[in-house]
Amino acid sequence: MNTIAAHTADATTVEEGLAIQEQQAKFDSDSATAVAMTNTLLAPRFYTTNFDELDAIDVSNVRDDWDRLINRMVSDPNKGHFKKNADWDHIDWENMDPDLKKEFIDFLISSCTAEFSGCVLYKEMKRRGKNRDVTQLFQLMARDEARHAGFINDALREAGVAVNLGFLTQKKKYTYFRPKFIYYATYLSEKIGYARYITIFRHLEAHPEHRFHPIFKWFHEWCNDEFSHGEAFALLMKTDPKLTSGFNKFWIKFFLTAVYATMFVRDHQRPVFHQALGVDPDWFAYEVFTKTSKLSEQIFPLTLNIDHPRWQSTLEAIYKANVDLADAKAKKQVFRKTMAQLRAAWGFVSLLMIPSKKNVVPMSTRLEPVY
Ligand SMILES: [Fe+2]
Ligand SMILES: [Fe+2]
Repeated sequence: MNTIAAHTADATTVEEGLAIQEQQAKFDSDSATAVAMTNTLLAPRFYTTNFDELDAIDVSNVRDDWDRLINRMVSDPNKGHFKKNADWDHIDWENMDPDLKKEFIDFLISSCTAEFSGCVLYKEMKRRGKNRDVTQLFQLMARDEARHAGFINDALREAGVAVNLGFLTQKKKYTYFRPKFIYYATYLSEKIGYARYITIFRHLEAHPEHRFHPIFKWFHEWCNDEFSHGEAFALLMKTDPKLTSGFNKFWIKFFLTAVYATMFVRDHQRPVFHQALGVDPDWFAYEVFTKTSKLSEQIFPLTLNIDHPRWQSTLEAIYKANVDLADAKAKKQVFRKTMAQLRAAWGFVSLLMIPSKKNVVPMSTRLEPVY
């Protein structure tokens, strides 16, 4: 019988990481799992795709950069990192301000679901594929995401709630995306994940008095994992110039807009959490969008004009529409709900109509995490 590592942080494969999660699941909370199960437009989703098409990728034209990236991931610099140690300060969950507790737990559950969503998709690709390059990459990325999700679940368990990840895998609804949409969406979520984690990490480095939970101390190595995952998707897109030209430029703009708008709305739903961090959500959004746009110039032929006079006000209008939507849903007001949905949709179209900025993509996609 194989002995498995005691903690997800030490797991060398995704299978091992998930087996550990499985053992812990009997203590996990139904309410946190129920939150992770929600399928609204804004909640993190699980994805499935055409794995055969993905498996047919040939990375020959990016071989040097590919091998360099894979070798770094195989060397596994973060093995053992994602677990509590002496730096993990005690948290008095009982006496935490109830509004902060609620928003912070919501943040942790949605982050855990998003990490695990990556894990499930990557693991499935690894399982179904035959292409050695592709399966190796997806195995390595699934390994990392299992550790990330496991670590957030450790933090949640201390608060008396944790997500039953095995249950989610089986029961959460899967959204089908064509491979190219998976590339755009996943590339962006990895790079925006990096930008979010590093921005919070640097901010708390300068203002440690705002670090109200120890998990933020782990964000530096964490964001480096996400950075590498983003690099891998940039290389996958680089294998086929069609993915970033012609009509696909519209899809790139669509996904950039959707990912940025979703982040803006979700972050503004957690005012107390951001106040505790000492972060203005408008500043944070602008900062993260700027970093993500700069990074995405490695592969995308356009960036969004976030300095356009309509950009900020339209995001605020979409946020307000979402607040009204939630309220109308709670009060079962069908007409008000429809109007709020239309306002949100119109806001999104209005963002899409802001002219984007052209970008000349460099020959090599390779970047280092410099923020
Ligand atoms: Fe992750
Ligand atoms: Fe990732």
